[in-house]
Amino acid sequence: MHGERSLTDELSGTRAIGAIVLAAGQGTRMRSSQPKVLHSIGGRPMIVHVLDLLATVSAERLAIVIGPSHDAVREAVAPAPTAIQDPPLGTGHAAMAARAQFEGFAGDIFILFGDTPLIRPETLNAMSARRAEADRPTVVVLGMRPARPNAYGRLVLGPGGGLDRIVEFKDASPKERSIDLCNSGVMLVDGAKLFGLLDRVGADNAKGEYYLTDIVGLAREDGGTAAVVEGTEAELLGVNDRVDLAAAEAEFQRRRRVAAMEGGATLIAPETVFFSADVEIGEDVLVEPNVVFGPGARIESGATIRAFSHIEGARVAAGAIVGPYARLRPGADIGEKAHIGNFVEVKAARIEAGAKANHLAYIGDARVGAGANIGAGTITCNYDGFAKSHTDIGAGAFIGSNTALVAPVKVGDGAIVGAGSAIAKDVAANALALTRAEQTNRPGWAEAFRARRRKADKKA
Ligand code: UD1
Ligand code: MG
Repeated sequence: MHGERSLTDELSGTRAIGAIVLAAGQGTRMRSSQPKVLHSIGGRPMIVHVLDLLATVSAERLAIVIGPSHDAVREAVAPAPTAIQDPPLGTGHAAMAARAQFEGFAGDIFILFGDTPLIRPETLNAMSARRAEADRPTVVVLGMRPARPNAYGRLVLGPGGGLDRIVEFKDASPKERSIDLCNSGVMLVDGAKLFGLLDRVGADNAKGEYYLTDIVGLAREDGGTAAVVEGTEAELLGVNDRVDLAAAEAEFQRRRRVAAMEGGATLIAPETVFFSADVEIGEDVLVEPNVVFGPGARIESGATIRAFSHIEGARVAAGAIVGPYARLRPGADIGEKAHIGNFVEVKAARIEAGAKANHLAYIGDARVGAGANIGAGTITCNYDGFAKSHTDIGAGAFIGSNTALVAPVKVGDGAIVGAGSAIAKDVAANALALTRAEQTNRPGWAEAFRARRRKADKKA
């Protein structure tokens, strides 16, 4: 089956794609108990961003190279297969660890780093396109021209403009160090040749490591060619410490804001709106300043998210208005034209079309029927210290301010609950429920009280 596919691909000019992701490094500069590649950007682990990228190029054979104590990484990338490198002896040695996974694979193999999560799909496509050009380079290296080339490996070009070899900074001469074209670390290699080249990589260099970068010179010795495709510095940002992590987050957020606006959303102050990787935002959504969209937020066309709202794992339907200062937690489902106002928290609750909870309320584990009105200070008492219970509020019901709805409880369609009630029994449709104590009025009492107190003060 596989051979058949490769033949068709060969004829059509597209080749099967495989990928090795190097992630066995210790990441000591993060100063973390967690492996570096599990730190998140946009609420998603870095290594998962790399897997998402590989999905866009339809990588059909994968190996994530991890360290022996990286069980948590193995779980995060599953079902993608992992290979263990132990001990870590360099990037070339790490790529070798994936050999077994690529037995019999004749396509092209990308080599990526787990700590470089922002590469754009078009950049990988440009590398594939370069590999397919007539000279058929054995290796295509992704280069960059960073503002401060620092300790990056340098790409040494030959007289014809092709890539001659890569020299690591520590091994480079002053002249080579002056080259501004740097190695990002990403490569695309002819899968039929990769492991044969790696077999010949030695460790006789400044670091005493097996350098992946040496395969370029080796491929040239064999009479092959190598080529460079350039990417941007921003997409090739590698995360080594928490400062880099924040820089990568900033770049991710910048892209997501642009994507939201290109998708038809208005962001009044885009630099103050924060996105998670999987957030969906429709056309004509208006987002006011200082809004956080956590994982799983889905905002449908024409909804308005007012300032200082926090939305996670929730859907907001067309024409709904949320905030200012609203909190939607996982399972909140805000129906069309519903209103969720200031200091209202909604969790695992369906607020049906046109319903309103405009001020100071907690609605959890509930259904609020279409057009119902939830007064200020209403609380669904959904938790008894052991279990969560459900509150069901019918269409068109009116819940007076400062009502405690002690779940499990049902308020029927069109019912009215008087302000300040503690409702622990079901209320029939169109009924009135009221639990507050009877009010007593005593005419003139306040005046008499004050007179009495003043007299007592004078005597003292
Ligand atoms: C590497 C490149 C350098 C390039 C730079 C870009 C080599 C020899 N050098 O250097 O040319 O400019 O990246 O950032 O490739 N890793 C393993 N096992 C190892 C060593 C590394 O899995 O034994 C992984 C790390 O987890 C990391 C990646 O490989 O994801 C890169 O390793 P790192 O040590 O950061 O390489 P650099 O010295 O930065
Ligand atoms: Mg590095």
